[in-house]
Amino acid sequence: MIWQSLPRPFLMLAPLEGVADTVFRQIVASTAKPDLFVTEFTSADGYCSPGRKIVEENFVFTPVEQPLIAQIWGKNPGTVFETAKAIAGMGFAGIDINMGCPDKTVMTHGGGAAMIETPEIAAQVIRAAKDGINASGTDIPLSVKTRIGIKRINESWIPFLLEQGIDALTVHGRTAAELSKVPAHWDEIGKAVEIRNRMKVSTMIVGNGDVKDAKDAMEKHRQYGVDGVMIGRGIFANLWAFDRSPTPHVAAPKELLAVMERHIRLFSQTWAHKKNYAILKKFYKIYVNGFHSATEWRVRCMATNSPEEILAILDELNRAIGTEPMIQ
Ligand SMILES: Cc1cc2nc3c(=O)[nH]c(=O)nc-3n(C[C@H](O)[C@H](O)[C@H](O)COP(=O)(O)O)c2cc1C
Repeated sequence: MIWQSLPRPFLMLAPLEGVADTVFRQIVASTAKPDLFVTEFTSADGYCSPGRKIVEENFVFTPVEQPLIAQIWGKNPGTVFETAKAIAGMGFAGIDINMGCPDKTVMTHGGGAAMIETPEIAAQVIRAAKDGINASGTDIPLSVKTRIGIKRINESWIPFLLEQGIDALTVHGRTAAELSKVPAHWDEIGKAVEIRNRMKVSTMIVGNGDVKDAKDAMEKHRQYGVDGVMIGRGIFANLWAFDRSPTPHVAAPKELLAVMERHIRLFSQTWAHKKNYAILKKFYKIYVNGFHSATEWRVRCMATNSPEEILAILDELNRAIGTEPMIQ
């Protein structure tokens, strides 16, 4: 059982749809590796539809991304059962159900954060996922990732989830309405730990919201007692966010450009014509950064239309910036 074997606190890279696919997870594994990865969220209805071939791309992974949890969402116990049954044997370390996504389309379909106000459906979906895992003949753990409410904090939601016999619960300390626009309510995450302790259940609590890096995560662990910490957007500011060493790595601009080149090549190799080149542009801010003319170079990078074009610019950029240290 993966959750019990992790260090305390364990550090997780957040599921990031459109960002943390197999390629980016391999990149993060090569800079400073978290203890656990999660796939992008995947619709159980979509997986059980004729569109499975495309949806399935979310479940592509390589061994360096292990341990890796597959995240799914959906309100239909039938498709959740089928999806869990089908993917449980693919080599994932566990399955996670998304009950926190604030996206309108997801919530209109009764998934993501909409579950917070339909607890009877949430319980059925959890049951269905467990049954699916059992039916697959495997014994991987089941976890849930959620928020603290939809419009306001919902006091009964976390205790309700903790009654469902799940192995881990990630609490993103904001309501759905708050999106990521206000500071995460870490006191509410701390409350979830207290509730778990009072209920004497073995569910691991993972705290999530605004954590910058491993040092910050250790502080959250000390202050709020969470078993693990999940970092999302922090990885955009620092690719070495999971470096636990006393003097965490600070990458020089050239080093970031080298990682960028690897990322572009790996993307082309992995997705060839399956994914659009434009997806890569989301990452250029991470890499083309920390030197005086970075903004102008980024503008040029954003105007490219193919891996070949961006690799040519990278070549030029590498020659132009020499070995400048990072501007802090
Ligand atoms: C681009 C992006 C994509 C996301 N995709 C997912 C997802 O697929 N599943 C999920 O549970 N949360 C998703 N989230 C939410 C994050 O996992 C995380 O809960 C949120 O960003 C808060 O953590 P942070 O403050 O460390 O970024 C996404 C967030 C972002 C910014």
